[in-house]
Amino acid sequence: MKLNLPDFLHEHLQDQLAQRQKQQNLRKLPLFSPNMVDFSSNDYLGLATNRELTQAIDFAYKNLSPAKNGATGSRLISGNSTYVESVEKDLATIFQGESALLFSSGYMANQAVLSALPGKNDVILYDELAHACIKDGARLSLATRYPFRHNDLSDLTRKIESNQQAEFIYIVVESVYSMDGDQAFLEDLIDLKKRFLKVCLLIDEAHSTGIYGAKGAGLTVEKGLHSAFTARVYTFGKAMGIHGACVVGSEVLKQFLINFSRPFIYTTAPDDHSVAAVQQAFRFLQEHPNLAKDLFDRIHFFQEKKAALDWGKFSWTDSDSPIQSLIIPGNETVKKIAQKMQEQGFFVRGITSPTVKAGQERLRICLHNFNSESEIEQLLQHLHQVIHSENETGHH
Ligand SMILES: Cc1ncc(COP(=O)(O)O)c(C=O)c1O
Repeated sequence: MKLNLPDFLHEHLQDQLAQRQKQQNLRKLPLFSPNMVDFSSNDYLGLATNRELTQAIDFAYKNLSPAKNGATGSRLISGNSTYVESVEKDLATIFQGESALLFSSGYMANQAVLSALPGKNDVILYDELAHACIKDGARLSLATRYPFRHNDLSDLTRKIESNQQAEFIYIVVESVYSMDGDQAFLEDLIDLKKRFLKVCLLIDEAHSTGIYGAKGAGLTVEKGLHSAFTARVYTFGKAMGIHGACVVGSEVLKQFLINFSRPFIYTTAPDDHSVAAVQQAFRFLQEHPNLAKDLFDRIHFFQEKKAALDWGKFSWTDSDSPIQSLIIPGNETVKKIAQKMQEQGFFVRGITSPTVKAGQERLRICLHNFNSESEIEQLLQHLHQVIHSENETGHH
């Protein structure tokens, strides 16, 4: 059936889907079976299914008077409240910034900063492994933009030097990279900022929120480097187990975004239930400091067991975070291996190109505090077997 789709467009779309199929990278929505062990979600601390937290959120929500189902408008029209303002104050305190501005998602928060802050005389230099929403935000801005090689100080320095005509230079990194799980070269960035006066640093802390630093305040706070960053984006859809994000920075930055950032201005504000979830998830985290500690115990266990096995021609990314990726070049191969792991009851996903560069396809394993040591051991043993049978078939 081609309801409402003109023939020429139907063919055009079908062609593109067929091309994807041919390149083995046709995207399909998978369903997570509860019988599988979760080695794939970003729910690092298990908060998404934590019933104590669910109850705390429900209680806080129901006690709002009146608790609204929706925000009824953008923050600038009818969607603001003393409640959301108080939660933003709490967030500013947790993240040790002057201000915090709430968003419905990390995608929007990154777009909000990158599309509004860099102007037409500016240059954005972003790490080549930056998340799609950083690249999309940069694309929406009027600034010129270039990627620099991943965590490569000399490439970045060269690009700063060759863009001295710019009024300001914005450098964008992630504290923990979403696909490799490694960290940004934060100390080097701080040195660069001292050397080049017109450089401003922006950081996406999506994968460090909730797991690094006191109160889950992320990596820059843990390292005491946060005040060097003009804007920090924290997201709540990963370790916090809920949804949303905030931008932390100076009060002037917040007022600027409220005035100039279209992804903030022209959208319905986050609803009361989501705001209650943000407030309660951070409270819960503060009351349960062992959640992150347990996660890191599991990560260390994984690293130890992984190092004891021979992975043949396949290599792991260099990561101390819950994101552990085994590079398995080729969409077809990585999909086949992911499929085999799923058949064994391990929910792991292959990440194919173009989400990652061709040749950098990988099995992205996410570790959680709720993965038991025996589940981790079994995962690695099965993966090791699957990899070796792949290595052998590869030789024939
Ligand atoms: C590094 C990074 N930044 C931003 C986002 C987007 O955040 P959200 O899922 O809240 O839109 C993600 C997740 O997809 C991410 O991995």
